[in-house]
Amino acid sequence: MKKDRDNSFYLKEIDRLRKERNAVILAHNYQPEEIQLIADILGDSLDLSEKAAEVKEDVIVFAGVSFMAESAKVLAPTKTVLHPVPDSRCPMADMIDGQKVRELREQNPDAAVIAYINTNVETKMEVDAVCTSANAVSVARNFPANKIIFLPDINLGRFVKNQVLEKEFILYKGFCRVHEYIKARDLRRIKKEHPEAIVLTHPEANEEVCDLSDHLLGTGGMINFVADCPLKQFIIGTEEGLILRLRRDFPDKEFFPAQPRIICSNMKMFTLRHIYLSLKNMHKEVILSEEVIEKSLRSLENMFKYGNS
Ligand code: 13P
Ligand code: SF4
Repeated sequence: MKKDRDNSFYLKEIDRLRKERNAVILAHNYQPEEIQLIADILGDSLDLSEKAAEVKEDVIVFAGVSFMAESAKVLAPTKTVLHPVPDSRCPMADMIDGQKVRELREQNPDAAVIAYINTNVETKMEVDAVCTSANAVSVARNFPANKIIFLPDINLGRFVKNQVLEKEFILYKGFCRVHEYIKARDLRRIKKEHPEAIVLTHPEANEEVCDLSDHLLGTGGMINFVADCPLKQFIIGTEEGLILRLRRDFPDKEFFPAQPRIICSNMKMFTLRHIYLSLKNMHKEVILSEEVIEKSLRSLENMFKYGNS
């Protein structure tokens, strides 16, 4: 009861403040459902980057992990970007830093460096191009280099390498604990329980799980696939926030998690109260120096340049 009362207060205040501040709320597909429902734009990391770059409002409130809010600031430097829960970080992004990229370059002077967007801004400053799960293959294929250091996710790197056979890859050994948590034996069991279901898995999952899947797709790719597919049952190998969205968007279809409780605890730190306090107190603003913005913008612009086909 009390939570319902609090939530209706926060919902009203968020609506009032978002108008007063001329703000827009961007949220990732892994956010808790209450945040998904108030978002002006809900999407995958590519959608959110593209939309951030085009925002007309003065303020962007970003509900996602910190590298996403940083990317929004780089792409919309004149806007006030608020990240309501600064402790919400992607542990995989923290597996690499600028110093490690410089060392890899020294060891492999003839290789270009492509980074997953799941990297902190100081890593993005040091790399040649960025990609998301939606455009990683295109960026790697189209970027003018025959040898590529791909970082930090070894699983997404393997997925790209298996499709861009004409190039040589050096894969960094980062990984996502949330997706690595999906176990092949659990997926085999779920497949047996739902033999008609199509298995859609995020390429951050481990090799055995990927091999058991029908299609490897980022979260936006999964939504598009389900929209275009006449079949009714899907096993989903990614964070459960996306499954909640799929169930809302496609009420006539059925979605089963590849294993119970695939949860990114960092994405789940957000509550309506955080969004309300953020808009009320204009907290916590993402501040980046001009140098950081300029250097990391280059690699993000290369994502748009090379990632389109
Ligand atoms: P998407 O780009 O597919 O939304 O994925 C982001 C992410 O963090 C996956 O774990
Ligand atoms: Fe990072 Fe994995 Fe969470 Fe995505 S699901 S934000 S890669 S920890």
